[in-house]
Amino acid sequence: MPNINTLTDEEQLLKQGFLDVEVDPTIDIFSEIEKIKKEKNAIVLAHYYQEPDIQDVADFIGDSLGLAQQAATTSADMIVFAGVHFMAETAKILNPQKKVVLPDLNAGCSLASSAPPDLFKKFKEQHPNHVVISYINCTAEVKALSDIICTSSNAKAIIDSVPADKEIIFAPDRNLGAYLKKVTGREMVLWNGACQVHELFSLEKITHLKEKHPEAKLIAHPECEEAILNIADFVGSTSGLLKFTKNDNSQSFIVATEQGILHKMQNASPEKTFIPAPPDNSCACNECPYMKLNTLEKLYLCMKYEKPEILMDEELRIAAKKPIDKMLEISARYGL
Ligand code: 13P
Ligand code: SF4
Repeated sequence: MPNINTLTDEEQLLKQGFLDVEVDPTIDIFSEIEKIKKEKNAIVLAHYYQEPDIQDVADFIGDSLGLAQQAATTSADMIVFAGVHFMAETAKILNPQKKVVLPDLNAGCSLASSAPPDLFKKFKEQHPNHVVISYINCTAEVKALSDIICTSSNAKAIIDSVPADKEIIFAPDRNLGAYLKKVTGREMVLWNGACQVHELFSLEKITHLKEKHPEAKLIAHPECEEAILNIADFVGSTSGLLKFTKNDNSQSFIVATEQGILHKMQNASPEKTFIPAPPDNSCACNECPYMKLNTLEKLYLCMKYEKPEILMDEELRIAAKKPIDKMLEISARYGL
């Protein structure tokens, strides 16, 4: 990591899109971020998978649906998105007049990358009469090819809103899709994509953990594989999982999703025990490497310099907005 001593050097690196610079260690980043928020009328939106420091400076922490709803209604001039690219892109699609910045432009998503738009277009052409429902974890190009967007919080309501005689394509997550087929009883054609974090939980290790902690409830995100979901006591989106841990009277939980959410769970229920579900090897695979590219330092720099910025082709933006608006409309109808 280069040592940046002067503002000019720092600006130089920022021009090259390189935000991984050392911040002056004498400044208090937390209070600087608060200052910039006021000066620039900026809002920090953070996903539950962000590191604890980022969650602590955020104005709103939420799941993909909550974040999209906040982005759709904020009066801030600048949206600072502490999440991954498809989330910031969704905020930009909803706010063409506002500046949307993401601390690290490389914060992608394996699920979004598993659906390249040209292949997805061909896939859609093979099923010309199907309604296309795409999980929000996809690119703007795939959104533009979709009829309705959904998240794990509202997917059932979105699928239920499609007339029973209509056939459905669900993309890009095959695990969420298979789970939703069961929950809704609808036959759907699935795109073969997956999240690299949620696919790696080990059934064997989780089973051992359950034996060791028979009192603990297993809670899982629906991006996990079917074998994990089959033994879970509760399946839900990140906000659904958090809500469950607050309301359920169990004192301990094995959590099968990205471990960033444990920060919020522990804050909300300090007396309860949260055990991260283990992946099938010794890596830190239950950490999303894309979400974790964002750091507090990069967040500060991106607020200060208003870069890297999400920019979009206007025609694409308009096409991608239609299915997102539909999702927001249906969610509001069901009070989600
Ligand atoms: P939710 O926050 O909507 O549950 O999604 C989880 C996820 O993997 C986001 O990338
Ligand atoms: Fe994508 Fe999975 Fe990371 Fe979520 S946890 S951003 S779905 S790779």
